[in-house]
Amino acid sequence: MDYQDFIEAKIKEIKELVGSEKAINALSGGVDSSTVTVLGHRAIGDQLKTVFIDTAVMREKEPDTVINSFNDLGIKVELIDAQDEFFRAFKGIEDPEEKRKAFRNTFYTVLGRAVKERRAHHLLQGTIAADIVETKEGIKTQHNVLDQIGIDSQSYGFKLIEPLKDLYKDEVRKVAKQLGLPEESYEKMPFPGPGLSCRVIGEVTRERVGILKKATTIVENELKDLHPFLAAAILLKDKATGVIDGKRAFGDIICVRAVESKDAMSAEVTEVPWEILRRLEKRITSEIPSITKVLYDLSPKPPSTIEYI
Ligand code: XMP
Repeated sequence: MDYQDFIEAKIKEIKELVGSEKAINALSGGVDSSTVTVLGHRAIGDQLKTVFIDTAVMREKEPDTVINSFNDLGIKVELIDAQDEFFRAFKGIEDPEEKRKAFRNTFYTVLGRAVKERRAHHLLQGTIAADIVETKEGIKTQHNVLDQIGIDSQSYGFKLIEPLKDLYKDEVRKVAKQLGLPEESYEKMPFPGPGLSCRVIGEVTRERVGILKKATTIVENELKDLHPFLAAAILLKDKATGVIDGKRAFGDIICVRAVESKDAMSAEVTEVPWEILRRLEKRITSEIPSITKVLYDLSPKPPSTIEYI
């Protein structure tokens, strides 16, 4: 596919759909939402307002990093701090699908409010083909799939525009490159919309997310030179007995997952050298005091999915 033609066709389509009205989009810094942000600004300039919703379940320092990097591209991004609202929504929920639904509902409530406050009518969103296919097949409810599963997006107060909905991840990366996004953006590892809430097994609390944020930074840094499709840390609900400073400790368990994939529909486990796995274990248990055990996940997709839950 010629991505220049694709880009021009989508710019024309966005212009026609928005007309003289306003649109809004939520940037997370992942390749899908970054691509939509640049595409949208090329199409309708200042008629598009870009917001970054701090959902509390992003990586460490992610809001600042993403906002600054888009400012460098000449795109202003407004921060909406919704951390407390998300933690309230996660309270008491352990079931993975219920968690995704709580995330989705909070996300679109916050976004719907932002649309209304800015008198916008359209929401530009980076839903991609894999999100839709997997949600429709009942494998996993991707938080950003609405109309395709019968949730009327207009009930949240906006009309949805999804320019990437026919593309898979590898194709989105090519569009992003062609649009002139920086390499760290089009090569960025996927990070699910519901973020670390998909990687905290059991209840998503401020304290547990704090632990996982630190582990995520370590895992992504230690594995980045291997260029996996995704590298993740997962905080399990189980606990394990360990010894800290000569005393018995009943601590947390972190599972490390890294996979190779082209389109996220199937995946193989990354063959991480033993040396790196050992370093990972050392760093995680020494830098995060509550962790007494580190595991490496050996399951490809299928039978597993890429995210742990
Ligand atoms: P799974 O776990 O379904 O992941 O094999 C496939 C790809 O999708 C990402 N993923 C999500 N992205 N909302 C998203 O925006 C979600 O709810 C969600 N769940 C999984 C995952 O990181 C992988 O790249």
